[in-house]
Amino acid sequence: MMTDLNAAFALSSPEDCARLYADWAASYDTGFAAGLDYRLPAHVAAAFLAHGGTGPVLDVGAGTGLLAGHLRDMGFAGEVDAADLSPEMLQAARAKGLYRSLFQADITRPLSLGGPYHGIVSSGTFTHGHVGPAAISQLETQAAPGALFALSINEGVYRAMGFDAALAQRPGVTLLEVQIYGPAAAEKDPDHAMQRGLIALWRHAA
Ligand SMILES: C[S@@+](CC[C@H](N)C(=O)[O-])C[C@H]1O[C@@H](n2cnc3c(N)ncnc32)[C@H](O)[C@@H]1O
Repeated sequence: MMTDLNAAFALSSPEDCARLYADWAASYDTGFAAGLDYRLPAHVAAAFLAHGGTGPVLDVGAGTGLLAGHLRDMGFAGEVDAADLSPEMLQAARAKGLYRSLFQADITRPLSLGGPYHGIVSSGTFTHGHVGPAAISQLETQAAPGALFALSINEGVYRAMGFDAALAQRPGVTLLEVQIYGPAAAEKDPDHAMQRGLIALWRHAA
């Protein structure tokens, strides 16, 4: 468990990332997410809906589909598409039947997905060793005017990777602070158990 997160946080290229998630996909839900009581996708889903989010939605770095699963559990009936670097993670997501379309894509590069989207959501993708703030501009190319963004950002990279500066350029950003893991994590992975995420919410201006 600890090895998984330590390895994930130490990634330094999309190629390394794709390799790691190829191995992790099969055990991600039952090992990592259930084992550590991973709550971030539920927090993002709740924040998106509480701020009036509507579809079609793009789930960025969708992984195995946990965030879309929470949206459905919370009663969201709109269309949701998935984008992720890892074909293996997307395969696990596809099997759940939650998404309209699934796109294998590197969100740090120019994108051509199924938009324009009225909602852009993400959990766990803007974190150590993963994706930095430059990807936000790529995501904005897929957003309809007025689209609601709800992106989690690991608190440990918020300033270090320049998310604070990037979000200062977007008007009306709301930040919510949440615990990424539930109490079960304290025993299983004390190094990461208390980590917090910031959920950044704003409406796309252009
Ligand atoms: C920690 S997982 C989070 C998955 C899911 N959102 C969740 O909360 O369970 C991070 C995901 O981001 C994806 N990812 C990492 N870098 C990416 C990139 N440059 N473009 C698209 N997806 C990326 C990984 O493949 C992985 O599925």
